[in-house]
Amino acid sequence: MTKEAYKKAVEQLNIYAYHYYVLDDPITTDEVYDTLYHEVVAFEAAHPDAIASDSPTQRVGDVVLGTFSKASHRSRMWSLEDLFEYHDLQKWMERVHKQVENVSFYCEPKYDGASLNLIYEHGRLTQAITRGDGNIGEEVTQNAKTIRSIPLKIAYQELIEIRGEVVIFKEEFERINAARLTQGEALFANARNAAAGSLRQLDAKITAQRHLVFLPYGIGVNRLKYTRLDERMDFIYEQGFKKAPMRMTCQTDGEIEAFYNTMKASREDFKMMLDGMVIKVNEIVAQEVLGYTVKSPRWAAAYKFPAVEKITTVNNIVLQVGRTGVVTPVAIVEPTDIDGVVVERATLHNFDEIERKDIRIHDKVIILRSGDVIPKIIKVLLQERPENSIPVMRPTHCPECESELLDEGVLIKCQNLDCRARVVNAIIYFGSKSCLNIEGLGDKIVETLYRHGLVRSVKDLFALRLEQLLVLEGFKEKKSQKLLDAIERSKGCECWRFVNALGIEHIGEVASKALCEHFGLQLMRADKAAIMALDGFGEEMAESVVEFIRVNGETMKELYAIVQPSAPREKTIASDNPFLGKTVVLTGSMSQPRSVIKTMLEGLGAKVSGSVSKKTDYLIFGEDAGSKYDKAVALGVQTMTEDTMRAML
Ligand code: IVH
Repeated sequence: MTKEAYKKAVEQLNIYAYHYYVLDDPITTDEVYDTLYHEVVAFEAAHPDAIASDSPTQRVGDVVLGTFSKASHRSRMWSLEDLFEYHDLQKWMERVHKQVENVSFYCEPKYDGASLNLIYEHGRLTQAITRGDGNIGEEVTQNAKTIRSIPLKIAYQELIEIRGEVVIFKEEFERINAARLTQGEALFANARNAAAGSLRQLDAKITAQRHLVFLPYGIGVNRLKYTRLDERMDFIYEQGFKKAPMRMTCQTDGEIEAFYNTMKASREDFKMMLDGMVIKVNEIVAQEVLGYTVKSPRWAAAYKFPAVEKITTVNNIVLQVGRTGVVTPVAIVEPTDIDGVVVERATLHNFDEIERKDIRIHDKVIILRSGDVIPKIIKVLLQERPENSIPVMRPTHCPECESELLDEGVLIKCQNLDCRARVVNAIIYFGSKSCLNIEGLGDKIVETLYRHGLVRSVKDLFALRLEQLLVLEGFKEKKSQKLLDAIERSKGCECWRFVNALGIEHIGEVASKALCEHFGLQLMRADKAAIMALDGFGEEMAESVVEFIRVNGETMKELYAIVQPSAPREKTIASDNPFLGKTVVLTGSMSQPRSVIKTMLEGLGAKVSGSVSKKTDYLIFGEDAGSKYDKAVALGVQTMTEDTMRAML
């Protein structure tokens, strides 16, 4: 085979694969494909230097990693606000129409899988990053390359992030689980878990065997000029990605509702699992006007499908007192498997809800579990109510501390600040993963510490001594020392963890991060207007922060002195230097990994970009610089060697 013939063969194989995996419409037989594939393999074995980066042989997953490295998304990956019924949709539409007029709505399925961000530079797939926390995810490029519906090469040459969902088709999911059963391996609970788990395999060969599918739903950083989302999506499809199995641009809430009902009715017929329909404002300018809350775009929403329902029996109704004192009734139900998860408890929200639905102990009920939400009881089967059913009364006294409860109607609250349940739950929350992340400080241990009078507030955790723990049942030396070490290690934690751990109403992890990023350790002095000026913060959130600081300022200071949270990484303003404020592109191999040099330049206040344009100020090149160098010269961009760069500093 000549080099020319090889290139043609690769191209032909990619066309076959595109028809098979993307269009779902094969144009040849396996035999023809395999024969050509083997010719390509033979050529590559003889000419390893000439292997094309988009050759199908590059998809077999010949890479085994030790760990995944973290990687930043070039622009944030957002979540979506959920809508559950027509009324929610109407309210959402009203909010949109208050800010923008004459907009249309792009609707497509909400796929139930794992989100993935693909970065293409100069038409090549250079990086694939999982969603992670929306800003930083894990780099799974080698695994993504094994997914046949992800093109390794696209026609478009500028830098672009293509976002989508990695799914496993239902049929494939059944096949995988059947195989796992015969191998005696643990089964995947559902297709979403299977997709997410398969994407995060250190051995890319395993990913390759799972036959994952990528469905694009949007773009991140880009230089496209389209004014509408539907045009952008058509552009993505033209680049060789798989189309949504159903989509429509709607004008009114009536139209959206009708389309939603059609999609819901055919839910079972889709190859992949869907958990709803996503609605997005179609006009890009209108999207920009609407903007974002701390978590999600105001221009998009997920209109969820009703989740899976099951019938079970209420065995008991118990009361829980949370860290804010709110008393929540919880149903203990006959354990029931819903969509792979055994449900034993269902939240009843509040007593108004129990009365409205007339839920009694021993009733047969329908419970519903959707996604990660806590299961809830949606209906009592009244015609099956047994004679011994027991109604539950609104409580008047705290089930924990017996103090009188404040009945505010919807919420019933224990007002005793020293109530055992309030204190214990506040301490558990303080040490939890998204707060101070104190390893080993679980529910049971906090209970024990409390019972023995060792902790009455979070502050007491930091005064615990080894000899106090050793006398407790089950606390051997090793376990006790481990706990004390974990508490000690939590000192100096990131500022946002400390803020989140305070448990300020309406302020969760995302808002805590935003607060710390902006105010740093000066948060105590922030006023309402300054907080409201932050992206995604409304009046209610700002008031909550200010009020919390007013009431708890002293305790906060004491705790602050003990924990000494660390300041967020200062966005230091670099002192004057030749690279300050300049846009720089790096190319070729350098004396250190390019990522190291990138970080150094960013520290100097430069913006390091992936591709050369007229806006580039300097191109810094190492050995074997290629097309970027040529482009820079063509555009008249100033070029320099790594040595020159160092000399300038
Ligand atoms: S758009 C701009 N569209 O749902 C908003 N997301 O709950 C970003 N998802 O993390 C998301 N199908 O992983 C969008 N058609 C679709 C989707 C979709 C599934 C996932 C996505 C996202 C999550 C948000």
